[in-house]
This record gives sequence, structure tokens and C-alpha cells, in this order.
Amino acid sequence: MASGGLHVTPLGDALGAEVCGLDFSKPLTSHERDFLRRAWTDHLVIVARGAQELSADAQIDFCKTFGEIGGRARPVEARHEPAGAPADVMYVSNKRVGGRIIGSIPDGEMEFHIDQSYTERPARGTSLYAIEVPDEGGDTMFGNLYLAYESLPDDLRRAVEGRGALNVYGHGGYGIQSRSANDMGAATRKHVHPIVCTHPDSGRKTLFVNRLMTASVEGLPPDESDDLLFRLFDHQEQEAFRYTHKWRQSDLLLWDNRCTVHARTDFDPSKTRHLRRFSIQGHVMN
Ligand SMILES: [Fe+2]
Repeated sequence: MASGGLHVTPLGDALGAEVCGLDFSKPLTSHERDFLRRAWTDHLVIVARGAQELSADAQIDFCKTFGEIGGRARPVEARHEPAGAPADVMYVSNKRVGGRIIGSIPDGEMEFHIDQSYTERPARGTSLYAIEVPDEGGDTMFGNLYLAYESLPDDLRRAVEGRGALNVYGHGGYGIQSRSANDMGAATRKHVHPIVCTHPDSGRKTLFVNRLMTASVEGLPPDESDDLLFRLFDHQEQEAFRYTHKWRQSDLLLWDNRCTVHARTDFDPSKTRHLRRFSIQGHVMN
């Protein structure tokens, strides 16, 4: 797609596109915002490369193209951002100042998930800006949940039709250690979403579960629930539905959190990985 000096280059067959020709040195124009919304709806993940030294304010302006900036992305007790950091910012970072980590989810790999899926209104989208990244590792992998739904085998499609699933914030770390319903019942941050949701912009159906936070299928015994969920996770995470983003410094990326899952690959913990994140307020999924 080309529009004036603006154009979109797909980054693979499944999802993801680079958006080119934007000028981040001044507020985005309505023409640029229309272009960005269209590219986001069409490609689910958009990347602007080389937006040099993008300020937090410019990143917020970019995010406002798509909705209102969300509240703090994580529970307050999990927040490590230093005093004076912009409101609503989260640093996805292992950077240390005076020996203290200044961000969240600092090191290691992370399973596929949907941000804030344990809340009633998960983020509409999430934006990351790469301030400092390692030469290798720490990639972000994305999966297309439209393709995952549309390619479901008939038996799985029938199994999820009309069902809800419980999504839980994992205590004692970001991950869920056990999928047993008893453990999940005690968690305070949890929400049931339909397994199949309809995206309000595209009208397409999305397979709205994820390995990190979806704990159980409503109305099924634990064994059946686990079997069904693991089949859904394996299906939605397959290579054919993925785009893997290898970060470069100054990359600005935004994903649609309603129709994608994302995960992080491991990286050398002695290397700095420092990204600035803002999320966009979501809505009830149905
Ligand atoms: Fe995430």
C-alpha cells in the first residue's frame, strides 16, 4: 500500500508490516494517522524503524492514534519504574541503576500471552520503543489469532464454540506454575473471556486464549480442560502463523493485543535490553 510518501512493507506471510515515510519530529498529521490505523488493522503488528531518539511524548502521541493510553500496565506492587518516570509508562528492562532494576519482566524468555488477559478489559494494543537492545536474542514472536481461529480443525472449533475460559495473573512470578483449578481459584486477578471473540474493527473472529495466562475452560472437568487448552496453544503457536521481530535500536512497534499472542526469546542477561512501553485502553471482549 502506498499513500503519498507513506508506504507499508509486509514482514512475512502471517502478520506484521513495516510502515515507512513517517515524520516523528512533529505531531502526526491526520493523514498519517489514517494511514497508521489502516496498516494496523490490516497487518496486526506495525513497525517504524529508525525513529531516532523518540521521546516518551512522541510515543504517547503515536499511541493516541489508536485510542486512549491505558492505566499502569501491571499491578502496582509489580511496578519498578523510578520516581519521575512518565505516568503509565512501563520499562520492559533489565537495566540497573545503583544496582536496582528500573523496569519490569527483566530477564529470560516468556511464554506466549495476551497482555492483561486476566482483566475485564485487556489492552487494545501495546507499543514498545527500543532504547537499547542486545545484538542477538530477546526477540518478540507474534502469532496471528485470526489465522489460528480460521484454521481450527472441526473438532476443536466445535469444542470451543460458545465457551469461556478463565485467564489468571500468575502469582510468584509472571508465569503460571500450575494449571490446576484449585490454585487458580485463589488468584485475585482473573477474568473469563469467550474463547472465540469478534474483533470490533475487522469483524473477524480471534482465538482469544494464551499459554501463559489461560488457566481453564469453563464447564469442563480439569483433565478435559487441560487437554483442550494445550491443543489450542499448540495450534495457535505454530510457525505458519508467526512473525518474529528481531529488535534494532530505535524500533517503534505496536501490536493489536486482541488478535495476536506474543512471546519473548531468551537473551544473555549480561546484555542490556531496555524498551519503553505504553499500552492502549481496551474494552470488554465478546
Ligand atoms: Fe506482553
